[in-house]
Amino acid sequence: MILRKDRWWLQPLVTGLGLLAFVVYGVWTAFRGDFYFAHHYLSPFYSPCFVSSCPPAETWGPAGSIGTVSPALLVLIFPMGFRVTCYYYRKTYYRSFWASPPACAVADVGSTTPGGVRSRYSGETRFPLIWQNVHRYFWYAAFIFAGILTYDAVEAFRFGGGWGMGLGSLIFVVNAVLIWSYTLGCHACRHLCGGGLRKFSKAPARYAIWRKVVTPLNAHHQLFAWLSLIWIAWTDFYVYLVATGTIHDPRFF
Ligand code: FES
Repeated sequence: MILRKDRWWLQPLVTGLGLLAFVVYGVWTAFRGDFYFAHHYLSPFYSPCFVSSCPPAETWGPAGSIGTVSPALLVLIFPMGFRVTCYYYRKTYYRSFWASPPACAVADVGSTTPGGVRSRYSGETRFPLIWQNVHRYFWYAAFIFAGILTYDAVEAFRFGGGWGMGLGSLIFVVNAVLIWSYTLGCHACRHLCGGGLRKFSKAPARYAIWRKVVTPLNAHHQLFAWLSLIWIAWTDFYVYLVATGTIHDPRFF
């Protein structure tokens, strides 16, 4: 039974289509396996680059040690694991793809009672959804990846033997800022910084980070979840356009 009379289906529809578009794009770019670097711009989908096809200046570790598989297939498991288990994205795909429930005050499609509640609902307390709890561990990997993408943003200012700035450099900087904003606004990060304390006065540094950085970002976590998702795809696509010669990267100096 649906109690709501408004267009409650609009939000799950739009967010579901947005996620679907990103998944389709991500699969295309991950299996593409080429046109993922230009100048010192390395696509965030392919960073860190470990395989023999990586550009020599961007290769991490001994080149060729992992063969020629698309580097994106090796690294995406960590950021994707982080996103898939994110509290915000869980809400999105539970609503949009599983309709469980599709919206507030709208019955779960699997409901067997007039009130719209599953008779044996166990949420995330049992297998398989209990695995969502690995999110806090994916956060550590995401923190490292944010550092790597920051390094890539610095590298995006290198041209030939010196330094410069192109439009791509700025795109990479925005990408790193959005990734940090999303990662530091994570609920697990907020607990890591401010949780488990009896008195904030005993941990002033943690309190300051919790209050001034993590909590404000956490309040806009949904916004940064979307902005960082869209921008990381745009950054990859920009690199693709430059690498294929479709556009010329404007240089400022
Ligand atoms: S809750 Fe969204 S990234 Fe952790």
